Amino acid sequence: MLQPGGELAGGRVPRHFRQLPCAVIPGPWPGRHLAGLPLTVLSRRCLEEEPFVEIVPYPHPALRWKAKPVSQIDAALRSTVREMFDLMYEARGIGLAATQVALPIRLFVVNPTADPDETEEEFVFINPEIVRRNGSSEGEEGCLSLPGLYGPVRRAEVIVVEAFDLKGRPFEMELTDLPGRVVQHENDHLDGILFIDRMAEADRREVNDHVLAFETEFRQAQAEGRWLPDPELERALQELEPG
Ligand code: NI
Repeated sequence: MLQPGGELAGGRVPRHFRQLPCAVIPGPWPGRHLAGLPLTVLSRRCLEEEPFVEIVPYPHPALRWKAKPVSQIDAALRSTVREMFDLMYEARGIGLAATQVALPIRLFVVNPTADPDETEEEFVFINPEIVRRNGSSEGEEGCLSLPGLYGPVRRAEVIVVEAFDLKGRPFEMELTDLPGRVVQHENDHLDGILFIDRMAEADRREVNDHVLAFETEFRQAQAEGRWLPDPELERALQELEPG
């Protein structure tokens, strides 16, 4: 994840990457104590340090999880959102869903500019719902969970999304173009749906080898103990679900 020399997009180095190889969840997670956080949800890499969030690769089971609504917005959640923005910028993405960092909650972050200095372009969508979809348009998509894989996806051209912001205030947005596409892509993540599922059959076939390569790599990592087996990852995800 670290760029050579620690130089990241916009020249900003997330604080947790200055010393630690992993990001820290300051905790306590809503309704839980830090000690109760199932470290196993993530890789073993940092087990001896503190729990952290990182973008998990396909086919980590978190990416097929149906996330649960956020029940409480508190300091821990706000810190997690900050970590998610930092991870997103570091990976040069424009959107990141909580399931992509193995948190089974209905939340995603977006900054269509991908520029950490454009803080007014940062949007947090909590318990989002797309209440209207109109038209149809095709566009190229990629995903931080399948880095380097791109393909055309047909989406609604105009959407209306309702959600809550980090202060718990409800808001509604009508979105088109790139922001509309990102929100539809991220909203899908909360239901365990990936953009490769939305590709037309012929286009999906073209990237099949690439998808299989991700699967082979992840299963190999599990076999070598760098990732826990699926049942353990699934158990940890269940434990992280909001009560
Ligand atoms: Ni994605």
